[in-house]
Amino acid sequence: MKAIVINRHGGPEVLESARLPIPEAQPGEVLLRVAAAAVNPADCKWRAGMFQAFMPVSFPHVLGYDVAAEVVGGDGFAPGIRVFGMLDPIRKGGYAEYVAAPAEFLAEIPGTLDFATAAAIATAGLTGLQMVERGVNVQPGQSVLITGALGAVGRFALHFAKERGAYVVCAVRAAHRDAVMALGADMVLTLGEGPLGGAPFDHVIDTVGGEAVGRLCVDLKPGGRIVTAATTPIPADGLPASPEFFAVTPSSGDLQRLGQAVVSGAIEVPVAQIMPLDQVAEAHRLVEQGGQGGKIILAP
Ligand SMILES: NC(=O)c1ccc[n+]([C@@H]2O[C@H](COP(=O)([O-])OP(=O)(O)OC[C@H]3O[C@@H](n4cnc5c(N)ncnc54)[C@H](OP(=O)(O)O)[C@@H]3O)[C@@H](O)[C@H]2O)c1
Repeated sequence: MKAIVINRHGGPEVLESARLPIPEAQPGEVLLRVAAAAVNPADCKWRAGMFQAFMPVSFPHVLGYDVAAEVVGGDGFAPGIRVFGMLDPIRKGGYAEYVAAPAEFLAEIPGTLDFATAAAIATAGLTGLQMVERGVNVQPGQSVLITGALGAVGRFALHFAKERGAYVVCAVRAAHRDAVMALGADMVLTLGEGPLGGAPFDHVIDTVGGEAVGRLCVDLKPGGRIVTAATTPIPADGLPASPEFFAVTPSSGDLQRLGQAVVSGAIEVPVAQIMPLDQVAEAHRLVEQGGQGGKIILAP
């Protein structure tokens, strides 16, 4: 099969096309014919070697967490069923024509939802949902700060925090203010403009990291939590609570809820571009540049 591999860490130029054997599904797994693979910011970080010191990968390594695919065979789903999901974060394998994955990491694509949108949901949706529900366990009436709320993770966090009855303050780029209000934010701040100096937050859900987020976190109530998915740390000095890193986990049940929320129209998942697998290096450049306004999807 055709796959995109890395044989070393580095810039987008280390992504190479290769021929690999079609993987075999192990017990509890399904073999998938990949129709769409989303490019996540983490793919670029794995490619660059950011996690090499504590989670080394062996080469050749096939990147890609998020897939939407048709089941070829195996356990858990009948052949021909359309599924989507987040693959094992260490094993990955999504940038390929076929991948084998545990059935418990996948869910059926609801209704007529297209493959590209389904692929765009998985990691971002799971992270946003899980940060709200498991990370800080948002309660009705609480005030929650969400940073980067127009991004892939942030927009899911905003949706599920509102669903729980929270008052949601979004900290975004100046250019994103109107769009995030249209998504249901109760209040919007421009990230980098300094502390709010107003009503404190019960919790912070961060997808950006860095000092500008830290300056907003000083307005956290005692006992509140700062949960971050970002790899840029929030400086902890002088904050009412230490920032806690949140790691997403694959979940079929959560995916089913996410799929329903998207197919019902409750959450919009923008797809910026669908590109052939061969254009993966350009896809990585675009994701690293930011500002794409939606997911970049690879079509094998
Ligand atoms: N720990 C985990 O399990 C986990 C899971 C998923 C994602 N993540 C991480 O979470 C982060 C967000 O992921 P994502 O998929 O949501 O990325 P994304 O779609 O690029 O969203 C990030 C959002 O933050 C905005 N942003 C970036 N820097 C900013 C700044 N300095 N000031 C204001 N806004 C800023 C971006 O705006 P522009 O588009 O204009 O740049 C975008 O709206 C990434 O670091 C990713 O690796 C971690």
